[in-house]
Parts: sequence; structure tokens; C-alpha cells
Amino acid sequence: MTEGRIAVGWEGEAQQAHAESLAHRLELPLTGLAADGFDMLLVAAPSGLELRQAGMGTPGPIRVDFVQGKAGHRRRSGEGRGQPLARAVGLKKGRLPYVLDATAGLGRDAFVLASLGCSVLLLERSPVAAALLADAIDRASVDTKTRPIVRLMQLRCENAIGYMENLPAAACPDVVYLDPMYPHRMKTALVKKEMRIFRQLVGDDSDSRDLLAAARKCARFRVVVKRPARSTRLADEFPDIEIKSPNTRYDVYVNRGYGSN
Ligand SMILES: C[S@@+](CC[C@H](N)C(=O)[O-])C[C@H]1O[C@@H](n2cnc3c(N)ncnc32)[C@H](O)[C@@H]1O
Repeated sequence: MTEGRIAVGWEGEAQQAHAESLAHRLELPLTGLAADGFDMLLVAAPSGLELRQAGMGTPGPIRVDFVQGKAGHRRRSGEGRGQPLARAVGLKKGRLPYVLDATAGLGRDAFVLASLGCSVLLLERSPVAAALLADAIDRASVDTKTRPIVRLMQLRCENAIGYMENLPAAACPDVVYLDPMYPHRMKTALVKKEMRIFRQLVGDDSDSRDLLAAARKCARFRVVVKRPARSTRLADEFPDIEIKSPNTRYDVYVNRGYGSN
């Protein structure tokens, strides 16, 4: 994890108290909107929490929104159990696995799984990413369309490796889902702007080999790893099943078949 130099700011008087409590909880300095000397600014804005990169003409901001935006669109368009992510976790009529999303990030995949009815435990180790996600979950929980979905999502800010290593067998999830940051090889101009700031925030996830090892010991049925379509296998481990879509590949490591006890 990198996190860089981050300060907390606010937009509009009504947001000041929120910004102060965030700065206190995350142990980050509080500034106005002047981000001098900082790389990024976590801003309590009237429309929700957002992460901005300091400087003019820089990309951003990052903001998670399950009600509007892409997640809202995906929810309304109702892509169902046939979509690659759903097939990868083994979702079927009458089978809704309990999923541990060990790399929650901005919660997009977890939201899709919860939209399909799965209970999802989201673990995110970056306190700032977790704060953006928690804010989006709070906003979605007061909207009647998204409330039943985010009720299925529980977020914890912690390192998933330690969490999984210490989990009693009775609490193990059916599926562990992993989507670690992929090593950065693309030309900067080709990388989406939002991704550039996000990478600056969370770094390269260079310990994802250990994450896969912990996940394979913890999952009752399977571990699903999301990778770019033409990338190498995580930790050079060949999966039992692969599910492809144009840009993404899901590598599935089966611990036990569904149906076995
Ligand atoms: C590529 S993002 C995941 C994106 C996510 N699937 C989504 O739909 O928004 C990877 C995230 O995993 C987090 N992460 C990586 N290793 C982790 C670990 N061991 N424990 C908790 N979070 C981890 C990183 O901080 C980063 O936020």
C-alpha cells in the first residue's frame, strides 16, 4: 500500500463537521480545499465523499456511487446469473453462495454479487478506499432501490490475509473473490484516469501470492481470481476452470464441488 500524502477537506459549510470527524478517525491532516503540499485530497462534498488528486488539470475525482452512475446502470439493466462474474462464483437458481470479497476496492464487483442476492463480506485494507466505500454504502442504504442490496454487504477495513488465516473453520465463506491490482505495464495514457489515482492510493498489491494461498485454505468451495483477459496466472497457479469475457478472465480454483459437504 502507498496512500501518498493525503489531507481531508470539505466543500460547503454543512460538510465541515463530517470532514473533521473523518480526519480524526483516519488520522489525516485537515485542510480547506487548498491541497498545498499534499498528493491527494479526500473531500466531504454535498454529493458524497470523493478523492481528488492535487494540482490543476489532474484526473479524478474518485467517488463511489451505487445509486446513479455505472453501478446504478448495471443494476437497472438487470444483467443476471448468466454474466461471467456470477458463473465464476457458481451462482445458480437456488444457490446463493456467501462470498468474501478480499480485495473490495471500490466495491463494484461486490455490489454486482449482492444485486444478484449473494451476501458479501467486503475486506479493504486501505482506510481511504474503505472510507469512500462506506460512504457509498451509507448513501445507498437510504435509497429504496439500493437498500435491499447494500443490506447484504458488510464492510471491514482490514488486511484479508490475516483475517482469513485466523478465521475459524465454521465461519469460512463459500467463495473467496480476489481482484488484486494488476502489475502496472500499460502506457500511462492508456490507463483510465480513475485507475491512475486509485493506483497512487493503494499501490501494486505485491503480496497477492500470499493472498491467494490464504484464500485457498479458507474458501469452502472455490476461490475466484479476476485478471485482465490476456494476463499471466496469479502466483503462476493454473486454475481448474476459466471463464472469459472480452477484457476479463476469471480463474476459478475449486476446493470442493458444490453439492459435496
Ligand atoms: C483492483 S482493486 C479491487 C476492485 C474491486 N474488485 C471493485 O470492483 O471495485 C484491489 C483492492 O484490493 C485491496 N487489497 C489488496 N490486497 C488486500 C488485502 N490483503 N487485504 C485487503 N485489501 C486488499 C487494495 O487496497 C485495492 O483497494
